[in-house]
Formats: sequence, C-alpha cells, structure tokens
Amino acid sequence: MLSWLLPWRVAALSILIVSCGGSSDSAEERWLEDTSAPLPARLSEVGIYQDISTRTAYDDMISYVPNHVLYSDGLEKERHLYLRVSATIDASGSAWTFPIGTVLVKTFVDGDAPVETRLIFRTEAGWDYAIYRWLSDASDAERLEGNWPEVPVILTGGRPHTLPSRLDCRTCHETHEAVAGVPVLGIGSLQTSADLVAAGVFSGTPELEPVEGRTEEETAALRYFVGNCTSCHNGGDSINSAFSLYPDVAAANTIGEPTESETGEGIRVVPGSTEQSVLYISVVEASKPEYPGPFKVMPPLGVDIADEQAELVLRNWIESL
Ligand code: HEC
Ligand code: HEC
Repeated sequence: MLSWLLPWRVAALSILIVSCGGSSDSAEERWLEDTSAPLPARLSEVGIYQDISTRTAYDDMISYVPNHVLYSDGLEKERHLYLRVSATIDASGSAWTFPIGTVLVKTFVDGDAPVETRLIFRTEAGWDYAIYRWLSDASDAERLEGNWPEVPVILTGGRPHTLPSRLDCRTCHETHEAVAGVPVLGIGSLQTSADLVAAGVFSGTPELEPVEGRTEEETAALRYFVGNCTSCHNGGDSINSAFSLYPDVAAANTIGEPTESETGEGIRVVPGSTEQSVLYISVVEASKPEYPGPFKVMPPLGVDIADEQAELVLRNWIESL
C-alpha cells in the first residue's frame, strides 16, 4: 500500500515546491552557490542570469574581457566570473589559485542569438567542464551530458561552427594546466586587465605582464599567439605542447627555426616570405579546403571559419622581419 502511494506523494510534493519557487524570485535557487549539487539540465537553473531572455546577469557575476582573446568563428563572447562571498583569487605565486566554488562562464553570441555557454568550475573534487546549447528561441539552453561529442551547428547565413567535445575542452585547458597549474586560460599574468584587478577579485596585487615585441607588427603577432596558440604551444612536454609561443620566446623559437612537425619539413618563420613560413602556411593556407600540402591546420580545434585578422597580423609580422 505504502509503496504504491509513495511515488504519487513525491510527485505531488515536487509540484508544490515548483509552484512555490516559481511565485517568489527571492527563493530562486542558484546552482553556482552550491556546486556540490549535480549540474542542472537547463542553463536558467545554473544561476548566472537574473533574466535569461535578455541575458542580464546577477550582480555578483563579474563581467571581464581577457587582454588577448581567442578567435572562434567570429562569434562575440560574454565572459563572467563567479566567486563566493568574500572569496578571492590568490595571485601571489606563479600559479594563481582559484578558490573552491569558482565558476567561469563564456557565452558565444551570433549577432543577437546566443549559441552556446561554456562553464569551467572548481568543486571540492577538482576542476570540471560543462557546455549548454541554446534553444533556437533563445529562451534557455540545454546541457550536453556525459562525455559529450563535438556537435556541428549552423550559424546565421549558413556559416558552420562546432560545439567542442569534453575532450576538446581538456585538450586546450589541461595542456595549459600542466604548465600553469590551473586550467583557466583567460585570467593570468598575461591575460588579466586592469579592470578585473579593480573589480577586487584578487587577494594582493597581481603582477601583470604586458605583451610587447620589438616592433608594432611583432607585438600584434605575439598578442595573437597568447590568445590563440599558447594553450597548447607552451613549452610543456605533452604531445600537444610542442614548442612554446609565449611572448618571451616566440620569436626565438620561430624565426629561422626548423619545424618539428611530424607531417612536413621547413622553417617556421622565414623573414619576408609567408610562402615559405610553415607557421603562416599552417594557420592560413592549411585552413583552405583545397590545401594540398602536408601541414595540419593551426589551431587544430575551435575554428571552422578562417580568421582573416590572423592572416593580416601574421603577414605583416613576417614581411616586417
Ligand atoms: C582551441 C582551444 C580551446 C578549446 C577547444 C576550448 N577552450 Fe575554453 N578557452 C580557450 C582560451 C584560449 C580561453 C581564454 C581566451 C578567451 O576567452 O578568449 C578560453 C576561455 C574559456 C573560459 C573562460 C575562463 C578561462 O579559462 O579563461 C571558459 C569558461 C571556457 N574556455 C570553457 C571551455 C569549455 C567548457 C570547453 C569545451 C566545451 C572549451 N573551453 C574549449 C581555449 C579553448
Ligand atoms: C589544441 C592544441 C593546439 C593549438 C591551440 C595550436 N596548436 Fe599548433 N600544433 C599542435 C600539435 C599537436 C602540433 C603537432 C602537429 C604536427 O606534427 O605537425 C602542432 C604543430 C604546429 C606547427 C608545426 C610544428 C612545428 O614544430 O613547427 C606549427 C607551426 C604550429 N603548430 C603553430 C601554431 C600556431 C601559430 C597556433 C595558434 C594559431 C597553434 N599552432 C595552435 C597543437 C596546437
């Protein structure tokens, strides 16, 4: 008798809870206040947005922009950092420490339409990733579950884009973690802006490293590398790291240096010649569908529509040498 009654009672109770919760805004639960609970299936329950239809974030979501952004098929990005009350990022050592409960959010927007929201968060158990795909009416987004695969999507105008798999997240963020101690790529000594420091999220004053080359053209190239290449090319010894493109060594590691590519031969950067520079070929030529050569396209993940700005920056730099 009791076992037959119980499911009904549980269902009735949950209807009651849902209707109560819905009637009062102040009682709304936000997953990010207690990340030990399972991740919600809907983005609206994560607790980033006060109003998800306009993507208006709660006041405690700190909006920020890294100094050197990653190109992703020309999509706009909205980034937010969440820290628990009075928690701060410890930037005193060379590896910055983010407190348990840190949630980092990046929403990709196509014109006015949100496409995907990516999360990186730190719980008692360690760092983890999530991705939510927005519904076509932009009313909410649904989480891709488990070890989700890559998901191709179509942007406005028929342009292609791919939602990265969990393994893709790890390829960029954990190759970085192996050398930097944290998987966070857009908050560190090279990436942190004065605005984020002023927002009071750090304990102490972090040491920031402005990126400057010997010339204007080189500065632009080094900044492009920080945003788009150093997640993998960071001098670590993992298979993804290969050579370092960090600002202090990028020129020395590329100009006149032979490639260690497993698929082709040549010099990474030949002064004055984009045609002969393996680095330029890998980013620009290899991104074309008709490219017949041996090199893998760079970056190997995250780009379906070639970055025209990158072509210009690399050309200007190589021709200036
Ligand atoms: C091609 C490499 C690459 C892949 C793949 C990738 N990311 Fe990132 N991600 C970056 C870089 C570089 C940044 C920092 C620069 C920026 O935000 O423009 C970043 C930033 C972020 C941020 C903001 C916090 C931070 O680290 O700066 C989040 C959240 C994030 N990524 C989540 C994810 C998730 C989740 C996945 C997988 C679904 C993923 N990323 C896949 C390279 C990558
Ligand atoms: C997701 C990780 C990842 C990212 C991001 C990435 N690369 Fe690579 N890169 C690799 C791997 C793995 C290889 C080795 C492939 C091979 O054998 O050629 C490689 C090879 C290369 C090579 C040829 C190998 C060599 O020793 O010269 C060049 C040049 C290169 N990358 C440049 C770049 C540039 C420039 C960027 C940024 C636009 C970039 N890569 C972004 C992973 C990455």
